[in-house]
Amino acid sequence: MTDIVISGSGLYTPPHSISNDELVQAFNQYVDRYNTRHKDEIADGTLTPLEYSSSEFIIKASGIKSRFVVDKEGILDPRRMRPKIPERADEELSLLSEIGVAAAEQALERARRKAEEIDLVIVACSNLQRAYPAIAIEIQQHLGCSGYGYDMNVACSSATFGMGAAADAIRSGNARCALVINPEITSAHLNFRDRDSHFIFGDVATALVVEAEAGCRSDSAFRILGSKFKTQFSNNIRNNFGFMNNCHAETRDSSDKLFRQNGRKVFKELLPLVGSVIHEHLQQMQLQASDIKRYWLHQANLTMNLFAAKKLLGREPNEQELPIVLDRYANTSSAGSVIAFHLYSDDLQPGDKGLMSSFGAGYSVGSVILERC
Ligand code: COA
Repeated sequence: MTDIVISGSGLYTPPHSISNDELVQAFNQYVDRYNTRHKDEIADGTLTPLEYSSSEFIIKASGIKSRFVVDKEGILDPRRMRPKIPERADEELSLLSEIGVAAAEQALERARRKAEEIDLVIVACSNLQRAYPAIAIEIQQHLGCSGYGYDMNVACSSATFGMGAAADAIRSGNARCALVINPEITSAHLNFRDRDSHFIFGDVATALVVEAEAGCRSDSAFRILGSKFKTQFSNNIRNNFGFMNNCHAETRDSSDKLFRQNGRKVFKELLPLVGSVIHEHLQQMQLQASDIKRYWLHQANLTMNLFAAKKLLGREPNEQELPIVLDRYANTSSAGSVIAFHLYSDDLQPGDKGLMSSFGAGYSVGSVILERC
């Protein structure tokens, strides 16, 4: 069987960062405005007042300290609370493509590949900017790649599922060298007026070059030893945005058309699923958890990652084993585990093994075991 490698990775970080304190201040101003506007209904008991958010809660419950965003001003304006992202003309490169291209160019450079050598572009992310034409095809055209491209969405697990799809396409002979790109403008699907979730997400883009090991030019490649994927339906993380919203004028703009979750239930149900997928994957590969030098896990919640790693290892993980980026990037959906891989893989030596795992809505879980070439 053809050995497949990740020969390069790339990361685009937006220019603006929002701290918890800044976010909470804007949210609490919104709460004051709302409660003042509705003081009569609140006084006669027909409306429940909104409650303040707090930085202490956010850091304790999630481990998130700040997040990067494509626009800060619109999010922090208590009268608006959504990013200002101007619409672009059809002839202009779309924003999702723009940040995807920035990450892809870095990945190509690291892989020592030219764009014209890429014959498959997969854009794998949680939120696609439009129905069609595919963002991947726009990027293919913009970079000058050959072959074909398509978009796919497995929510937070999109990156690992995308890597699997790229590896399969190369093994089957449909492609020789692929780009898997994860542009995530999560701030546009986040409800900044929802106390339970306004702090969760951040914007970013990541990219990976996936190709056959034979012919790979990179000096920092990782061989894909194996992958395992699992999905199991759940409504606990859901977003009802879609093309049929237009058919229901009354509910078109309601809050269920943005991200929402039952965080507690997700915690309880998803963690055992993640644990069992990774455990079974290691068993199938005849590996022990301790054979894995690095765990690049999905970056949603610090406690969740510490819990998952502790369960696998039978002890507390150290910082080298379990790199954390969610403190400064927040949850970047599909891109989280790839950011961790991009920033924390250079020091691994030939033969060292690492495990990338994504998990989230669906539910969906992906596990990919890598070995430094
Ligand atoms: N500020 C202050 N208090 C808040 C708050 C905020 N922003 N948001 C909620 N609270 C309060 C709640 O009202 C609740 O109060 P109560 O105990 O008086 O009822 C309390 O804090 C606990 O709320 P809860 O939602 O149960 O918190 P949690 O400990 O479960 O943490 C998450 C919330 C979302 C951080 C956590 O559940 C999580 O990360 N889950 C996993 C999510 C995940 O991985 N999703 C994948 C998405 S891709």
